[in-house]
Amino acid sequence: MVAALGDPLRLASGSVLPNRVAKAALEEFLAVDGQLPGDELIALHRRWARGGAGLLITGHVMVDGRAVADPRDVVLEAGTDLEPFRRWASAARSGGGQVWMQINHPGRVVFADQGGLAWSASAKRVEMGAFTWLYATPVAMTGEQIAEVVARFADTAAQAERAGFDGVEVHAAHGYLIGQFLSPLVNRRADGYGGDLAARARLLLEVVAAVRGAVSPGFAVGVKLNTADFQRGGFQPQDAAEVIGMLSGAGVDLVELSGGSLESLAIMGHAADESTLAREAYFLDAAASILADAPLPVMITGGVRRLPVARRVLESGASVVGVGTALAVDPDLPHAWIAGEHAEATPVRVNWPDKKLSSAAVQALVHARMEDLAADRDRSTGPLRALLTERLRRRPALRRYRKWGKA
Ligand SMILES: Cc1cc2nc3c(=O)[nH]c(=O)nc-3n(C[C@H](O)[C@H](O)[C@H](O)COP(=O)(O)O)c2cc1C
Repeated sequence: MVAALGDPLRLASGSVLPNRVAKAALEEFLAVDGQLPGDELIALHRRWARGGAGLLITGHVMVDGRAVADPRDVVLEAGTDLEPFRRWASAARSGGGQVWMQINHPGRVVFADQGGLAWSASAKRVEMGAFTWLYATPVAMTGEQIAEVVARFADTAAQAERAGFDGVEVHAAHGYLIGQFLSPLVNRRADGYGGDLAARARLLLEVVAAVRGAVSPGFAVGVKLNTADFQRGGFQPQDAAEVIGMLSGAGVDLVELSGGSLESLAIMGHAADESTLAREAYFLDAAASILADAPLPVMITGGVRRLPVARRVLESGASVVGVGTALAVDPDLPHAWIAGEHAEATPVRVNWPDKKLSSAAVQALVHARMEDLAADRDRSTGPLRALLTERLRRRPALRRYRKWGKA
């Protein structure tokens, strides 16, 4: 029987999501001194909690202060002061739903001006056309460095549990470190972590095992995976289905399926295949074959902003519908949809000729909107202004990050 959006979901680890609408991870860019959560981040999550989602997944939190995707990202390591994280978890749970911390390592997706580490499966730089020079050139990781990263994911998960989070989601999508290992295009290793899919998935499986071993049995563990990376010769839906098979029996509660990488921009709705992306819930087609016999509960994220589409995600066999951008636009959608009201969020679109700049402007608009939610205000910001403001704000954040001294 198809679940309704308001139905609870019992997870394998024992806890219950009160409904099937989840807020997907949105990198907030709101870390304060010491890469910690501050008042704005906490207020933002209190606002989202009020909207009624059964699960809030935080924007990605870095497991290593020496490698951040952006100098405004939160970092949680073994020795980090947990007090601000406790306040964050408690605000995010104040609406009765669960909060999971998304945990991530950027691998090679680090800007050259940040300093610090750029580690990857192989020494291949991010390909971003005219913007490639902005990225650091990575080194191919040694076995010791791989073991260190695995241990760091486990440390961060254990810290998240201590701080009061209900679970963690391991970020294995969108071309970050674990995605770099999964990708046959990026991973050119000849050791046990490269080659066939089982070898490329080894880092993910080791991370999941280490995380599961570091937290209590009732703590939820999710994984975010690409349905496909929308690059020729890249990660395909069949690969995703096989990786989900490998994850069954590993103590995973939920697999979130999304898609794309920084290079393909599919996550922002600009993949090469416009025929798929012109539609809403744009990973649904690619995900259909995976959902047909997935051994684990699946959450589908991407493009959902209207009630009929949210329902269609559940009808297609998913257990949870993930909503990112639309919840930045209207944080009250979960309550409305569960009550059967046809509320919908206006899409955030920028159609400049340069697709990469348009995508950056969409991100900047979503960031501006998150700041508004945190401050409980409504502004109307244009894409150019949002993009410029965001770029300008990066400078002091970069100075602060470098002064912090880990990079
Ligand atoms: C501003 C912004 C920040 C994002 N940050 C993250 C992130 O930290 N982790 C992640 O897994 N996905 C991130 N995403 C991707 C979303 O979680 C989601 O997969 C994608 O936006 C498609 O869903 P949507 O159309 O509902 O937003 C981000 C997306 C946007 C727009």
